[in-house]
Amino acid sequence: MSITHKELLSKAIEASHFSYSPYSCFPVGAALLIDDESERVFSGCNIENSSYSLCLCAERAAVSQAVSMGYKKFKAIAIISKNLKPCNPCGACLQVLCEFAPNIDIILENSDGEPIVKNIKEFLPNMFTPELLKKSSSLFNKD
Ligand code: THU
Repeated sequence: MSITHKELLSKAIEASHFSYSPYSCFPVGAALLIDDESERVFSGCNIENSSYSLCLCAERAAVSQAVSMGYKKFKAIAIISKNLKPCNPCGACLQVLCEFAPNIDIILENSDGEPIVKNIKEFLPNMFTPELLKKSSSLFNKD
């Protein structure tokens, strides 16, 4: 990976400046690194709504940007909030990430501003993936 973990964290910090989070006052930024030679990075911030349940997390905003531009292979995602270090991804975002990238590295920032690198499998050891669904539907079709 030619972009460093610190550089990916910096892009997540930049994205967090666009956060729309008037209800939680908890700005989050994410930067998603594409797993191909382009090494493109798509960013996202959390976008809240007065109808609270419609809040969108930064990670899912970044995934939407990438997929909408035709990129579905992800190598790593950096996630930050200035209010919480490290800022772990929520379960909904982990599930959305594992749809496309069941081996993605998750880059967080510790309280000294240094990167922490974890694999998604550490957060979701028994993830529900498209492959599992495929397996089960082929079993169903045989019966
Ligand atoms: N949030 C994220 O953007 N990502 C996460 O993984 C956890 C939570 C946002 C959602 C909401 O706008 C705010 O943080 C407080 O929950």
